[in-house]
Amino acid sequence: MTLIRWLDSFDIGIPAIDHEHRELVDLINTCHDRLVEDPSGNDVGDFLGRIFDRITAHFTHEEIEMLQLEFPEYWPHKADHERLLDELRDIMNTWSSSNDFDDASLASRLELWFMIHFRTFDARLHRFVAQQA
Ligand SMILES: [Fe+2]
Ligand SMILES: [Fe+2]
Repeated sequence: MTLIRWLDSFDIGIPAIDHEHRELVDLINTCHDRLVEDPSGNDVGDFLGRIFDRITAHFTHEEIEMLQLEFPEYWPHKADHERLLDELRDIMNTWSSSNDFDDASLASRLELWFMIHFRTFDARLHRFVAQQA
């Protein structure tokens, strides 16, 4: 079962960015599919760690870009990234302390966060980038 469905509302209308966001969602789904297919070889903690790494790499990429461009909305944008990473850390901590993990709740949190962040913070950043070109 696909963890995160790609929703039309994720698209921000800038093909290169939409492509990168789709790749991020695809990678998360691929890691999740492997976990479901072979639970013995893929621990939930390992799966959550991979999601965290992928998302962190994407955020770092955007944050470096914002710093280089002296983008005025750097701090609030970074704070919104941190908010999702904190939520993921909570989910990972809950898993490691109680082995409690709820697929559906992870999916709905990520979907909701992506839906809002892509359309607001990321769309503004990439409009700014387009204006600089
Ligand atoms: Fe972002
Ligand atoms: Fe992004």
